[in-house]
Amino acid sequence: TQHAERQRILDALRLSREQLLEVKRRMGEEINRGLAKESHDQATVKMLPTYVRSTPDGTEHGDFLALDLGGTNFRVLLVRVRGGKRRSVEMHNKIYAIPQEAMQGTGEELFDHIVHCIADFLEYMGMKGASLPLGFTFSFPCHQNKLDQGILLKWTKGFKATGCEGEDVVSLLKDAIHRREEFDLDVVAVVNDTVGTMMTCGYEDPLCEVGLIVGTGTNACYMEEMQNVELVEGDEGRMCVNMEWGAFGDHGELDDFSTEFDRAVDDCATNPGKQRYEKMISGMYLGEIVRNVLLEFTAKGLLFRGKLSERLKTRGIFETKFLSQIESDRLALRQVRSILQHLGLTSSTCDDSILVKEVCSVVARRAAQLCGAGLAAVVDKIRQNRNLSKLKITVGVDGTLYKLHPHFSSIMHETVRDLAPQCEVTFLQSEDGSGKGAALITAVACHLLCLIA
Ligand code: BG6
Ligand code: GLC
Repeated sequence: TQHAERQRILDALRLSREQLLEVKRRMGEEINRGLAKESHDQATVKMLPTYVRSTPDGTEHGDFLALDLGGTNFRVLLVRVRGGKRRSVEMHNKIYAIPQEAMQGTGEELFDHIVHCIADFLEYMGMKGASLPLGFTFSFPCHQNKLDQGILLKWTKGFKATGCEGEDVVSLLKDAIHRREEFDLDVVAVVNDTVGTMMTCGYEDPLCEVGLIVGTGTNACYMEEMQNVELVEGDEGRMCVNMEWGAFGDHGELDDFSTEFDRAVDDCATNPGKQRYEKMISGMYLGEIVRNVLLEFTAKGLLFRGKLSERLKTRGIFETKFLSQIESDRLALRQVRSILQHLGLTSSTCDDSILVKEVCSVVARRAAQLCGAGLAAVVDKIRQNRNLSKLKITVGVDGTLYKLHPHFSSIMHETVRDLAPQCEVTFLQSEDGSGKGAALITAVACHLLCLIA
């Protein structure tokens, strides 16, 4: 029957508990491979040292600029941090668009645009010519030898400005500032968004030692024991490690769980073969997976009366917000249909709406479970590091998919609870983005510099 045929197709997107446990196990393996000097080069999960050695303690102080590049919005922020008993953080920010040309043109164009936005922001704040220390949230994989340097390993999430990979983004930013000859800035820290998020949430909750992003892309960071961070000299204390877990699967670790739909999405992306785990989880790709499933259903005559419309063949029509809308429990089927019509998928029947909603739900559930399996590996690793039979820990989270999707977070939480039963995990949603965390990191670094000077 048609029903059985549909379920057979969807079953490929349903993961069993055993499969999820296997994902957790393999993620654990990759974590160790990425941390160890001898195997680091072969690891997909790069476990990049961040040179952030502690979470905030409330004594951070000063005025800072922050840039936040790599998510849905590009932002410039002014962050005023007041430490001590009546500690507080005051933030002003402005959102700027990154035009497609800047994202996919030359690196110079991209960084000139960024500096143009900083100049506009300083003027807007009435601070023209001010020279403040700057924390740069740059949400891409960077190799760091120190806090104020970040060599871009590769672009992800659809960025592809030329001449940036292999370069230090701090130099690229400074060069652009000098080209403009209008102001100077002291770039003190390059910070991944996961790290910024962990620090932002850590300001409220000292148990927060993991940062997680589920937005345009997905990634996590956590506090690792220095003795395990083999790429950095020294054995004392801890350092935050930017996992870059989105690249998990790039050596085939997920091949036995992925489907023809995942392969279709991967083939058409700007970075085929790369970021395979990210492509099964994050907002930039889930809509495309759904669209590919719908294409298959239609081709088999199981949907839209078998009529393949030009619209359905168009890449990118299902944005993340569509997934969130369509699964909203308050939505009547009639409204699902009107969303489909809005997308130009006009010939839909009531049955079509039910099926589309089911496809969205299966794809989002798999994403949340995969993400939960990865996170289970991370918290269990931290627990084992500390030789505990029970670990209490907080995960700071940000990202539009996590925040806006009606079921993603609860399915993810449930999966972590199930797969890492010895960890008591609290999830804390970041309300202030990762720019605040970048400012806190900058504050600590400036303070230390003053002590040395
Ligand atoms: C924001 C952070 O709050 O979340 C960004 O400040 C980050 O730096 C973003 O990249 C992730 O979410 P999204 O959904 O915008 O990719
Ligand atoms: C991509 C980036 C990573 C970032 C994540 C979330 O995976 O490579 O650095 O943290 O997206 O924005």
